[in-house]
Amino acid sequence: MSSSEAVADLWAQLRAAAVAAAGHAYAPYSHYRVGAAALVDDGRIVSGCNVENAGYGVTLCAECGLVSQLHLTGGGQLTHFVCVNGDGELIMPCGRCRQLLWENGGTDLVLLTPRGERGMAAVLPDAFGPEDLT
Ligand code: THU
Repeated sequence: MSSSEAVADLWAQLRAAAVAAAGHAYAPYSHYRVGAAALVDDGRIVSGCNVENAGYGVTLCAECGLVSQLHLTGGGQLTHFVCVNGDGELIMPCGRCRQLLWENGGTDLVLLTPRGERGMAAVLPDAFGPEDLT
């Protein structure tokens, strides 16, 4: 397998994991299902779905579940990330979740977006991060 085929295969795997995650979404208010999946630097794949709440502002985005699973299963750095809606279409992570991704992937994290691959620095320019606290 060539390296470009391997990358395409990886995105296909992550997309399938995100679609599967979206199937578990709890979205009775917006009816907008989201699934997110990412590769971790040790080869694990972690995923999450959105979980809404009658107190709308308490809603958990799919990325929240993904980051929780990351830490629950051993931590590490996210290297590749994708999120999809209930129709399996690629979507952009919301602003708050870009900050979550920054914390857990940093500049090396690559996202598959509706407009192709994007590095984290393009998705959250001039981010506030852990180094700002030192
Ligand atoms: N949502 C996510 O799960 N992740 C995002 O990055 C964008 C928005 C969810 C939150 C809410 O349940 C629904 O999509 C509509 O905003």
